[in-house]
Amino acid sequence: PPRVFYDPASFRDEIRQAQADGKRVGLVPTMGALHQGHLSLVAESQKSCDLTVVTIFVNPTQFAPGEDFAKYPRTLEADLKLLSAFDPVWVLVPEVDAMYPPGNTTVVQAPEIAQSLEGAFRPSHFDGVATIVLKLFQAAPADMAFFGQKDFQQVRVIEEMVRDLIVPIEIVRCPIIREANGLAMSSRNRYLSPEEREIALSISRSLEEASQQIKEGETNAQSLRDKIEQTLRDAGFREIDYVSIACPRTLKSVETIEGDVVILVAAKVGSTRLIDNILVSSP
Ligand code: PAJ
Repeated sequence: PPRVFYDPASFRDEIRQAQADGKRVGLVPTMGALHQGHLSLVAESQKSCDLTVVTIFVNPTQFAPGEDFAKYPRTLEADLKLLSAFDPVWVLVPEVDAMYPPGNTTVVQAPEIAQSLEGAFRPSHFDGVATIVLKLFQAAPADMAFFGQKDFQQVRVIEEMVRDLIVPIEIVRCPIIREANGLAMSSRNRYLSPEEREIALSISRSLEEASQQIKEGETNAQSLRDKIEQTLRDAGFREIDYVSIACPRTLKSVETIEGDVVILVAAKVGSTRLIDNILVSSP
């Protein structure tokens, strides 16, 4: 079974000891409610590291008032069970006070790239993410850290932060894990009713269709965005936050599709907000 830690300082000391013993350490930061998407990051870490460390922490500062912080699924027992398929794995499960010591006022301001897309709809979200991820890098001074492209803008924010703040860790991007029907796995999928789940499927379907059209030579971003929106509305989405076709590096939206682009979608079904994206190389 995984070795569980609650205290960030002793976690850090043990990791440093393992590194002194010559072990390469990989970090997988999570908020728990683990699924195959998270486990794929653990598996990826195991491929290139001797020891994998996972953090499970529902970070209050990346949720805005009115978002789902209080009801975010907390399933520690099941999470530890899933992680016991991997060995060796150490898990840090800190209390809020351990990551945010009483009286703390220091924060990270997320890089510019955090302003658009998610940042436009969740204004302080990426400051909260950047702040906690830097703290987790301190509590778990790993050689590499693994992030999913499910949260495409998030991994770009972390990459920029690591470059800007000269953080000594290698960021590894991992592909999106989907259900057989295409739905991108997410801890929030468990909020969906069967009807909402059906509606949710139109996100991956519309991205897949758009990707096909780009590969067949479509270069007009506006017309593709319109098609995606139409597919989502026809399926039952009423609240579409954005459909963007953007440069994968800057996340700036493009009008003419050439080279590599990423198509990103955020939309709400019922009270559940879903995001997904797909990377496409145009011919
Ligand atoms: P969480 O949503 O738990 O996700 C943890 C990691 O798992 C992230 O890197 C995310 O991109 C990845 N992930 C989630 N679903 C995935 C899927 N279907 N396929 C591949 N990877 C997937 O992202 C966070 O937590 C938090 O913001 C965190 C970085 C831990 C900071 O609090």
